Amino acid sequence: MAKKNISVFFCQNCGNETSKWSGQCPACGAWNTLVEEVVDKATVKTRAKVSDVKPTKLIDVTTSNEMRISTNIEEFDRVLGGGIVPGSMVLVGGDPGIGKSTLLLQTCQKLCNAGTNVMYVSGEESLQQIKIRADRIGTFNDKLDLFCETNLDTIKAVVEREKPTVLIIDSIQTMYNETVGSAPGSVSQVRESTGVLMEIAKGIGIAVFIVGHVTKEGTVAGPRVLEHMVDTVLYFEGDRHASYRILRGVKNRFGSTNEIGVFEMRDTGLEQVKNPSSVMLDGRPDNATGSIVTCSMEGTRPILVEIQSLVSKTAFEIPRRMATGCDYNRVNLLVAVLERMRDVKANKSCGIFLGRSDIYVNIAGGIRINEPAVDLAIALAIYTSEKDIAVDPGVIVFGEIGLTGEVRSVSMAEQRVTEAKKLGFNKAIIPASNLPSVKSIKGIDIVGVSNIKEAVDAISR
Ligand code: TYD
Ligand code: MG
Repeated sequence: MAKKNISVFFCQNCGNETSKWSGQCPACGAWNTLVEEVVDKATVKTRAKVSDVKPTKLIDVTTSNEMRISTNIEEFDRVLGGGIVPGSMVLVGGDPGIGKSTLLLQTCQKLCNAGTNVMYVSGEESLQQIKIRADRIGTFNDKLDLFCETNLDTIKAVVEREKPTVLIIDSIQTMYNETVGSAPGSVSQVRESTGVLMEIAKGIGIAVFIVGHVTKEGTVAGPRVLEHMVDTVLYFEGDRHASYRILRGVKNRFGSTNEIGVFEMRDTGLEQVKNPSSVMLDGRPDNATGSIVTCSMEGTRPILVEIQSLVSKTAFEIPRRMATGCDYNRVNLLVAVLERMRDVKANKSCGIFLGRSDIYVNIAGGIRINEPAVDLAIALAIYTSEKDIAVDPGVIVFGEIGLTGEVRSVSMAEQRVTEAKKLGFNKAIIPASNLPSVKSIKGIDIVGVSNIKEAVDAISR
């Protein structure tokens, strides 16, 4: 067959492929994300004869006893679901400069110290640059092989010869495959490179870590296009100007996805944060209004965070609403619930008027929380700021709020209250329907509330 190169258009946001250019991606709706790439369509793979292919019975499938390699970094192991699975592929995504290379180099150090052979392939930094970083982190033994290369065919050949147990590719956007015509970092290169790495991982059972930069604009293909190809997707997030970093699992074929690992960036690399609650509550103001502590579950782990709110008279035609660390629309909804608050017992309305107020809500510590269990704390933070009530610093609040102002039960109430007690809180305001699950906890005053009015009364006391 004559070779024929065909132009196709890839969306740099979602990876969708179309044959014609258009301003908006027909799949994800993003604007100006379609980029032309030349694809070699002539390589048609030879298929096995259909009559030779047979499905396997589930009971006949044997699993090799899944052995995990510990990274010896507890926070990292937790997010991975208990350690590295041989032959798996892990994508570590995040903004440039957040600390992905640092985290993986530290993992190399720990793995090598435990006797594992590791190969670190860098397409971004020179050997000297890696050495300088390694010197900040600490001492390394001779188990780590460094390799500065971007050609995947070379990498594949070297890996197959050296057979390391763990392979690290930093980063996928710099890798290129000669058979693909487009530039490194384009969707087809990133996809094809991941395919080659997948062959290496599954073929010889090497665990592969891929670093992927997340970019806002479509100049380099984001790691989103390869999320479905890899086994595990981890995102490293946090404010680059703050020192705390959160490693969050968003997909994991070998474990739970809700787990997070918390790290602090020091001048000697990343340090694990074993007790994030006390870190998140660090520097909490005394006798402040509009400050409420709540407990959010991140996977199996309770984390206490402080919700702050500031309500002030607006100087604008339309009042400003701002939410940092939580969902903006959720805040608007809670404001509406507070405005329509009802005293159910007296059967009368007791809402507060917020239509002429600017409202700012912030979760201290730079963490993002999307769990509805923090609703009650957000609502009470807004209420106490508006009413100028200084809340007792020993109170913790959690609960989901429904549209009629009812406080609904949340999962794992017991763990939340226990964590609060451990950190010295003496009163918990929780959904009334969660009371039975926490009645065995002693030494902390527990108040059950069934609607927002009762919660407001409990906090104002
Ligand atoms: P890096 O791992 O290079 O980020 P990424 O690979 O995600 O792009 O981390 C970069 C930042 O971390 C850089 O701004 C310097 C800082 N850093 C420290 O503060 N302490 C350290 O010990 C190291 C190695 C880096
Ligand atoms: Mg890097």
